[in-house]
Amino acid sequence: MSIEFTASTKTFHLKAGNTSYVLQIVNEGFLAHLYWGRKVSDYRFANYLQFKDRGFSGNPYPSQDRTFSLDTLPQEFPVYGTTDYRAPIVQVQLENGTTITDFRYDSHQIISGKPALEGLPATYVESNEEASTLEIVMNDSLSKMKAVLSYTVFEDRNVITRSVRYINEGNKPFRLLRAMSTSLDFRDADFDFLQLTGAHERERHIERQPLRSGTQSVESRRGASSHQFHPFIALLRKNADEQNGDVYGFSFVYSGNFLAQAEVDPFQNTRVTMGVNPFDFAWKLEAGESFQAPEVVMVYSHEGLGGMSRTYHDLYRTRLARGQFRDKERPILINNWEATYFDFNTEKIEAIARAGSELGIELFVLDDGWFGKRDDDKSSLGDWFVNKLKLPNGLADLANRVRNMEMEFGLWFEPEMVSVNSDLYRQNPDWCLHVPNATRSEGRNQLILDFSRDDVCEYITKVVSDILASAPITYVKWDMNRHMTEIGSALLPADRQRETAHRYMLGLYKVMEKITTSFPHILFESCSGGGGRFDPGMLYYMPQTWTSDNTDAVSRLKIQYGTSLIYPISSIGAHVSAVPNHQVNRITPLKMRGDVASSGNFGYELDLTKLTEEEKEEVKQQVTDYKKIRSLVQFGDFYRLLSPFEGNETAWLFVNKQKNEAVVSYFRVLNEPNAPFRSFTLAGLNPDTSYHIEETGEVIGGDELMYAGIAIPTSLSGDFQSLVWHLKEVKAGE
Ligand code: DGJ
Repeated sequence: MSIEFTASTKTFHLKAGNTSYVLQIVNEGFLAHLYWGRKVSDYRFANYLQFKDRGFSGNPYPSQDRTFSLDTLPQEFPVYGTTDYRAPIVQVQLENGTTITDFRYDSHQIISGKPALEGLPATYVESNEEASTLEIVMNDSLSKMKAVLSYTVFEDRNVITRSVRYINEGNKPFRLLRAMSTSLDFRDADFDFLQLTGAHERERHIERQPLRSGTQSVESRRGASSHQFHPFIALLRKNADEQNGDVYGFSFVYSGNFLAQAEVDPFQNTRVTMGVNPFDFAWKLEAGESFQAPEVVMVYSHEGLGGMSRTYHDLYRTRLARGQFRDKERPILINNWEATYFDFNTEKIEAIARAGSELGIELFVLDDGWFGKRDDDKSSLGDWFVNKLKLPNGLADLANRVRNMEMEFGLWFEPEMVSVNSDLYRQNPDWCLHVPNATRSEGRNQLILDFSRDDVCEYITKVVSDILASAPITYVKWDMNRHMTEIGSALLPADRQRETAHRYMLGLYKVMEKITTSFPHILFESCSGGGGRFDPGMLYYMPQTWTSDNTDAVSRLKIQYGTSLIYPISSIGAHVSAVPNHQVNRITPLKMRGDVASSGNFGYELDLTKLTEEEKEEVKQQVTDYKKIRSLVQFGDFYRLLSPFEGNETAWLFVNKQKNEAVVSYFRVLNEPNAPFRSFTLAGLNPDTSYHIEETGEVIGGDELMYAGIAIPTSLSGDFQSLVWHLKEVKAGE
């Protein structure tokens, strides 16, 4: 059993893979955090909790013990107002206006498997043997609220997931002002704080800095997980790097406003809190109602960031993503966005698709502009009816023509949005998020449909489903191109307006669940101006994401490297685009563009009809080569070797689970005159076997490649260079 309860010490010992997580009920029913880290067989309190009378740290009633204060106790479920001054996990406002709670342990149960979270995306198990779940019930005597803390412990993974269900057990309503998903207090503060930050076209850049006293936080108030900050933080021991050292990852399975913070108190405890952002949030709970906080996936690794990433990759690829495509190799696609933007007709689309088919590409994706009167981004979102001026014979005809070229057909949607210049908006001006009498701010000339409303959700589900049923469509790109403003709903009463943003997410998840499960043969890819909603919540519904609107190969090194910290390679959409690049105007060789894109879920996004014969040959070769390594790249283990955040070079490696085949990619951004000789070491190979390197013909031991390294040939010349080595195990006697 991976969850042990010792009644004599009131201790829970959670054993997840090679991890131990220990908590204890102390004093009058408070939940203390004791340990999280490498597995210990039996936790016997050598590092016991210490207590001391500290000035200005009060003592909660009925404890008469002046050494006991919630202000200094490392906790699992901290609240506000009863001697703890650090960030609480929950805050409630009662009918009498007060905001104090006093939660105490009530009971617990251990169940095999992992219950689903109602209405929310979450990791799952396929059999109950894969995980156990501890549910601890905490009761508040003041609000009559019950909090059910849920800890799922994965048997063979270094993963513990946490969430909380807040239930009003009283007979009066109250308001949740804060309802976070996880909180835990490390008993020291010798950590670095790592986050992923950025902007549109510059997503998920890694930042690492030492923790300091006070609070360091990342959050989104934009109504989406966002390009700007990411629903993820990690705490790293000072000596932790890619391959070694303790790393604690916290990843939030949610696509809306979030808060993730680490607070270092004066006694060097570090409190990590994560959940739906309390900013501009409140939730009214009537008697008997409950609020389910989304899931946080917590990963411990003593093999550095690389170990953490591989744990997330395997979990998210196989126990978060769902559906038919989860374990399938993903098709190589050609998308017409950067080729045509809005300016296309049937002939143009067919010509691009035909060129793609001749090069071995497997899926054609028709992007924005096929519906309503959409010739630019100023109109028609919401009018999901085919534009007969551009596609006179309709979608089904086009899709069939593409399929006759032996390619699948995919389609772009932006279902959550409405253009002011659209029939949908003219007919239903109340259907967007808005606040009475306030201006409706636009972003990309569009407003956001109010997905907190059932009627809006039902309408969109129907029109999108009708289109999907009307033609042989096997892929959908689900886009979302602005952030929320004037967050309010015409249907919610005054005291529920601050529920709108979260209700929107619940509505969106419901729509996605309905559409993705009604069309199981369709591969869905989420997108939000590129990677603005690349988050675990979306991955639950759609197994891949368009990583960034920036397709420049050099920019992509950082974006894909940062994204790989958490997300499996099978989810990371990466396309070769034209030069000069449309976002940064850089000219990089087709080889480097191909090598960067084939380090992800591969595709093209340029006008294939404009390629020279020589370029076509090169693309054909890239497509052929990717098909050979696709399964390795998408489903193998991923090792980061050289970081683009630390220098001019990037390298990474994909190795299959048997470790008998690997692909190494190396990228050098700028050439330097008279540069030093360079080499780097590989990782993740079998040290006891030898590998044949296809490109050089050499046979070299895995140990030598990992410990002595591999030289970068001096023949590599010029800026924007890349190398790929394909390694295959040589069996003894071969
Ligand atoms: C933003 C996406 O990220 C692009 O790839 C493209 O689909 C455009 N939207 C279309 O409007």
